[in-house]
Amino acid sequence: MKTQVLICVLNALAALVLLNVVSSTLSRSRSRAYTYVGDDYPIELPLEEKLLLVSMTLEETVHYELNISDPVAEREWDSLMLYPRGFGRVHLGPERRVFNIVFWHQMHCLRSMERAIQNRSHPFSTPGHVRHCLNYLRQTFLCGADHTLEDGDFTIQNFEMERIADTRMCKDWEAVESTMNRKILEFFDFRHGKHPS
Ligand SMILES: *[C@@H]1O[C@H](CO)[C@@H](O)[C@H](O)[C@H]1NC(C)=O
Ligand SMILES: *[C@@H]1O[C@H](CO)[C@@H](O)[C@H](O)[C@H]1NC(C)=O
Repeated sequence: MKTQVLICVLNALAALVLLNVVSSTLSRSRSRAYTYVGDDYPIELPLEEKLLLVSMTLEETVHYELNISDPVAEREWDSLMLYPRGFGRVHLGPERRVFNIVFWHQMHCLRSMERAIQNRSHPFSTPGHVRHCLNYLRQTFLCGADHTLEDGDFTIQNFEMERIADTRMCKDWEAVESTMNRKILEFFDFRHGKHPS
């Protein structure tokens, strides 16, 4: 009987500890004032608007060709790096601490791998950088663990004939980008001494 009571108490304690971990993780992502010193910063970029879902139909595309002498394809790949402004970085908190945004870092890695495939003399094409990018994508995809269902078996699909895939729900990346754009403009103002009151 005594042991049972002890087990009950221990279970209750374990549950409390677990609850604490979960709620402190959650409260880190909720909006509150952060100092941006040490570990005191939110898990995700606090967005200025509610992040809605948008639908996107995946399809094979004639854009983003792998052809280094095609100026249109080159510009399309370049566009991965053009938007949002500020090279994927945001400056947050009173000291304007620098952070990267994961999805933009992912885009940078895709762009780098396209460079590496097409031009071995490009500075992004070193084995070290390609390896960093492959591992970064591997780990961030693992972390995202996207469990969206895809119809059919892609290993036997003829992508020349079957060009349209599922429509899926995505985070509205434009909302993320527009917050990033606003942050970079704020940072330019900060650097030029125009502090918000
Ligand atoms: C690559 O692009 C160039 C310029 O647009 C074009 O002339 C050439 O045919 C393309 N090569 C391939 C393999 O599509
Ligand atoms: C490959 O990259 C090097 C270094 O950036 C550059 O000088 C060269 O023009 C590139 N080659 C092509 C075909 O774009």
